[in-house]
Amino acid sequence: MVQRPKGCSDLYGEEAKIWKYVESVIDATMEKYNYTYIRTPIFESRDLFHRGIGDSTDIVTKETYDFVDRGGREMTLRPEGTAGVVRSYIENKLYGDANQPVKVYYNGTMYRYERPQSGRDRELTQFGVEVLGSDDPLTDAEVISLAVNIYQLLGLKEIKVNINTLGDNESREMYRKCLIEYFQPCIHELCEDCQNRLLKNPLRILDCKVDCDNEMLKNAPKTIDHLNQVSADRFEKVKEYLDILQIPYEVNPKIVRGLDYYHHTVFEIEAKVDGFGANNVLGAGGRYNGLCHQLGGPNTPCVGFASGIGRLVLALKKEKVSIPVSSSIDLFLLYVNEEEKKYAAYLTQELRMAGFIVDTEYTSRSLKGQFKQADRLKAKFIAVLNHQDLDQNEIRIKNNQTKEEEIISLDALIYYLDEKLASYDIDSLSENHDCCQDDCSCHDHECSCWHSKD
Ligand code: HAM
Repeated sequence: MVQRPKGCSDLYGEEAKIWKYVESVIDATMEKYNYTYIRTPIFESRDLFHRGIGDSTDIVTKETYDFVDRGGREMTLRPEGTAGVVRSYIENKLYGDANQPVKVYYNGTMYRYERPQSGRDRELTQFGVEVLGSDDPLTDAEVISLAVNIYQLLGLKEIKVNINTLGDNESREMYRKCLIEYFQPCIHELCEDCQNRLLKNPLRILDCKVDCDNEMLKNAPKTIDHLNQVSADRFEKVKEYLDILQIPYEVNPKIVRGLDYYHHTVFEIEAKVDGFGANNVLGAGGRYNGLCHQLGGPNTPCVGFASGIGRLVLALKKEKVSIPVSSSIDLFLLYVNEEEKKYAAYLTQELRMAGFIVDTEYTSRSLKGQFKQADRLKAKFIAVLNHQDLDQNEIRIKNNQTKEEEIISLDALIYYLDEKLASYDIDSLSENHDCCQDDCSCHDHECSCWHSKD
């Protein structure tokens, strides 16, 4: 059998409902913060990521899915969303809009050839935001607060925000020299990649996955000690705004991030969840004031973050956060013969148009089987269509919570459902269904399940 590729998942059933719920919270929060949705292609020219993310980053050198299309063009499946958004901002001349900064959010699949493990996938779904066209430190604080707000709204309790600054170009250059001086004498103790990185991009040594436990890396000089005054003042402002927005944070001078485009603020947000392991970084980002210019656009200060939805759902599950996903339907329509089936089809359509969640039988089950199916779907009401009732313009409807059965006029059905559903206690419905598994023998004994009498 053909199997799905390593590091990818199929999303369906209850898990899919959790994802859709998480995405609905993301959408609603983005609206509150006034971010508009943007969608860019899943693949882009290979050059975009090499220039954007950095030629010596792990993501570009080891993790991209590159391919040549049938027209001979070199393409890459996007490993992240920022470069594509900036390309779109330039190509669509969004910098010309009067409405600056441009505040956008996205939610889509990214591709990284990583070693798959829990919380680390090859096809991952990220949601993220980018603010393009403002250097205001308040925007740095805003994107952090937006991420924290989403995590908290979803029910995660212990969120830790780690921030750092890489400073402006001048500070980064001072720091670069200092790192070269520091690593040069003992560079042979580090991996081959790090040896190559020394002169090309020494900052990348600090996020090396091979040497991450090496004492030399742990004791390396810190960006924060090599800032010019402008950068230091800017970082103070970001912290001040985080205080005003009441976002607790810790300054962690070790954060350098694995992408080359950052200047000034960088941050990582962790969830303190038992068993979440090394993948506890839920979301991360920072300021990237040089990227737009580097990709051929105007000098545009930008800031943003991204967060893996898979990792977020994992954290919610590990923390046993209860997710309000509805897994019940309003009404299940049962029938026996072809005439009743046609009426079921008609009524299903009418009620769906009226806004109810309605389903019926599609696999020729016996009536007993249909009752069980109604139970599996946690139907709040069940109606067995029979031609005698229908001839009288009536329907027999049963409340699956109270077990009450009523015969009502078909003309009153919508009004009836509206009224009854408004006061339905969904929790007690779940209790009723404890016995309604496939092997339930309700038909053979007097259990409390209502269809024992059918
Ligand atoms: P990143 O740190 O590479 O940043 O990824 C952001 C988040 O995506 C991570 O914190 C994690 O939740 C999730 N993630 C990354 N790789 C994987 C993976 N293999 N499996 C599952 N989840 C993963 C960026 O992508 C930047 N574009 C963020 C940004 C936006 N900076 C500025 N704007």
